[in-house]
Amino acid sequence: MTCRYIYQLAGDDGSRDLARSEAEAVCDAEQIAYRLVASDKRARLEGTGYLAGGIELLAEGPDVGAACEAVRRLGLAAEQFAIDVVRLPGGLDLSRRDTANAFALVIEGRPNLDDPAERFTVYATPEGVWFGRALEMGVPQWKRFVAKLHDCSSALPDQAARAVCNLEVRGGERVVDPCCGSGTLLLNASDLGAIVSGFDINKKMVGATNANLLYFGFPASAEQADATEVGGNYDLVLTNLPYGKMSAVSPADELRLVSNIVKLAPRGVLITTNEVTDAVQEAGARLERVIPLSKFTITRQLYQYRRD
Ligand SMILES: C[S@@+](CC[C@H](N)C(=O)[O-])C[C@H]1O[C@@H](n2cnc3c(N)ncnc32)[C@H](O)[C@@H]1O
Repeated sequence: MTCRYIYQLAGDDGSRDLARSEAEAVCDAEQIAYRLVASDKRARLEGTGYLAGGIELLAEGPDVGAACEAVRRLGLAAEQFAIDVVRLPGGLDLSRRDTANAFALVIEGRPNLDDPAERFTVYATPEGVWFGRALEMGVPQWKRFVAKLHDCSSALPDQAARAVCNLEVRGGERVVDPCCGSGTLLLNASDLGAIVSGFDINKKMVGATNANLLYFGFPASAEQADATEVGGNYDLVLTNLPYGKMSAVSPADELRLVSNIVKLAPRGVLITTNEVTDAVQEAGARLERVIPLSKFTITRQLYQYRRD
């Protein structure tokens, strides 16, 4: 891969696999170091859950000295520039100021830290050092959903919900969440251009989803129904299956839920606290991947599948 961009992934260890999978889904990015991925594609950072910044790569090296030498060879000229040395977990233990100075010395032009016209970023890790032009990034779109009117204790965090949607949602597709709760997944799927439908057995949660959708300018599209009986043809299922005190289901009920839900669309993403590999396969689907999601309110797993 000719890598032109390096992206930095946010989140903690519990979301690491989800963040990497999201980066792969949105721009075919591959991991190059802890919390860094590389790609030849420019990602729209604001639309993602975990891509928290990045660079257009200009130079690299196995260590700071070699990367500086690579910048010197470029003959890079820049007026009024600033260099940000990003402190990554697991990155090199170095002085940010000394490192920025070392790079500044090999760029022709004057730094201006207060009001720079150009911004460069350095990622320094034991696996390598990367230097490039910082990519501009606005406020992540998922953040506005934090202000939703209604929440549900078992909902995914909004950032994770965004990443889950980015694994599969394509604009214009019909997406269903048959256990929609307060609609966290549906809000993000709507924001990504999907035409969404939600169902929930609990009338209050149906009201919560519809109020949340309307609040952000999307049509109210949730109805009360039992997901073991919901029918229809959709392009994609996205759901966070019930669990916990408020909506405990027995393992047998969960199997019945999964076997009906998998019939609703040829592709899907299920999030559960239980092992549902057999249930997904018995429903005629092929597992693409299973992603552990730990350190959220409770440890869950994400199952991404295709029905052939
Ligand atoms: C984990 S929560 C979903 C959280 C949701 N993603 C959100 O953003 O709030 C699971 C939901 O499944 C609903 N539920 C439980 N059994 C159901 C069934 N048989 N059919 C439909 N919904 C069901 C519960 O009422 C609950 O709202």
